[in-house]
Amino acid sequence: MTTTAQLLLAEIEAHLARTGETATKFGLASVRDGHLVSRLRKGESVTLKTADKVRAYMRTVAEAPASKTPEASALPFRRILLVMGGGIAAYKCLDLIRRLRERGIATRVVMTSAAQRFVTPLSVGALSNERVLTDLFDLNDEQEIGHIRLSREADLLVVAPATADLIARMAHGHANDLATAVLLASDKPILVAPAMNPRMWHHPATQRNVAHLKADGVHMIGPAVGEMAERGEAGAGRLVEVPDLVTAIVDLLAVRAETATPAKANGPLSGRHVLVTSGPTHEPIDPVRYIANRSSGKQGSAIAAEAAALGARVTLVSGPTNLPDPPGVQVVRVETAREMLAAVEQALPADIGIFAAAVADWRVATAADQKIKKTAKGQAPRLELIENPDILKSIGHAAAPKRPPLVIGFAAETHDVIAYAQKKRTSKAADWIVANDVSPETGIMGGDRNTVHIVMPDGVESWPDLDKQDVARRLMARAADALAQIQLAP
Ligand code: CTP
Repeated sequence: MTTTAQLLLAEIEAHLARTGETATKFGLASVRDGHLVSRLRKGESVTLKTADKVRAYMRTVAEAPASKTPEASALPFRRILLVMGGGIAAYKCLDLIRRLRERGIATRVVMTSAAQRFVTPLSVGALSNERVLTDLFDLNDEQEIGHIRLSREADLLVVAPATADLIARMAHGHANDLATAVLLASDKPILVAPAMNPRMWHHPATQRNVAHLKADGVHMIGPAVGEMAERGEAGAGRLVEVPDLVTAIVDLLAVRAETATPAKANGPLSGRHVLVTSGPTHEPIDPVRYIANRSSGKQGSAIAAEAAALGARVTLVSGPTNLPDPPGVQVVRVETAREMLAAVEQALPADIGIFAAAVADWRVATAADQKIKKTAKGQAPRLELIENPDILKSIGHAAAPKRPPLVIGFAAETHDVIAYAQKKRTSKAADWIVANDVSPETGIMGGDRNTVHIVMPDGVESWPDLDKQDVARRLMARAADALAQIQLAP
């Protein structure tokens, strides 16, 4: 492949990541050749004339006014410092930078030398609009920026993909390259998104290092479970998906912005206790298998963060999720429905109870103590299921002070959404039910957006399609108003 083609491909990859255009559409729109990008990716060359046409097209797109996502204006200007480690997942950072920019978040990037073997600083720089920093001993950078100033100028430091080596060096306070020196010099929150082979992730050394970092107050997200780049390898070790990383970053920045304002102490929920359940539950079948569902916990986590931003003391009882703890929120991690009920009862009383968890309705009557083995006859085991406690129902029907003055449940439905939600409101004695359609085609379960109907005693409010953070913001504002009225009532 010629240098012209290499450089052009790097610019095109950055353009694709920045704009979200597909490779085929890009080729057709720029030189009417839907295969251009795939040929370049295979290492073919390109004429200077074609390269000129392609660059002209990219300039036209770049100069068009940028479209902003609805939440772009929700946060004041923020800057993150992205420390990129080496790993096949490094290419996902291109998409991450683009998505953060859409939300008004600027990214300055430091790449380790390993990272530069997977993605070029050229493509990263083209996307972030800033020169990528790579070397601690680059005197110009030291004079112009300095690694201490570099880390202090950011609102949040994000390490992604965080390799086992980078995590180890962070945990032990190394500072022998720009990436680790910046991390050590920082007084800002740090979010780490690990990505490595599952065996490296489960190795006691890595787990020790992760525990060290958590104890130091570092936020962790992931790793996700799934197929690895290496053929035949699967397990925990994938970098979390970019939208999940964006949500975690936006959450951390939002809560930081809120906690930085003295208004929090006088927020509409200051002095109040808000209890939130969130995420799925895992019901064991045997020591290695469990029953679960597709809930990501994003909606409940966003609600907890918003309640904290309004000044409340917040307890979030969460089933297993990949999400970081929202800062300023007391998080109680549980696995099963019965553990969730116990944690809720322990956390009560509360002024508002919000039951967003996708609790498993059933559990296996007797979970096996040992791994269930296949039989020679190929006979599948029979699992007897029994019903789990209904947490919302038991709290909704309780008497004060166990029952919070405002009880909000959720209803996940795939059809007749409002009718079922209305039934749930009465049968579970909730004040409001937030109903949503979770049919697979809506992408709500596990996704970033939500379309909800708030079923109240005197009617139903249908909200437009919103980011889960915006649903949380509106819901908590309404809940704070309602609580104030309940407490004013004679
Ligand atoms: N819920 C709960 N405990 C359970 C089941 C559900 O607290 N064991 C709560 C959920 O957190 C949610 C509401 O009840 O706030 C409704 O949950 P949903 O899954 O929609 O309904 P189910 O009661 O499970 O009924 P079905 O599955 O038949 O729709």
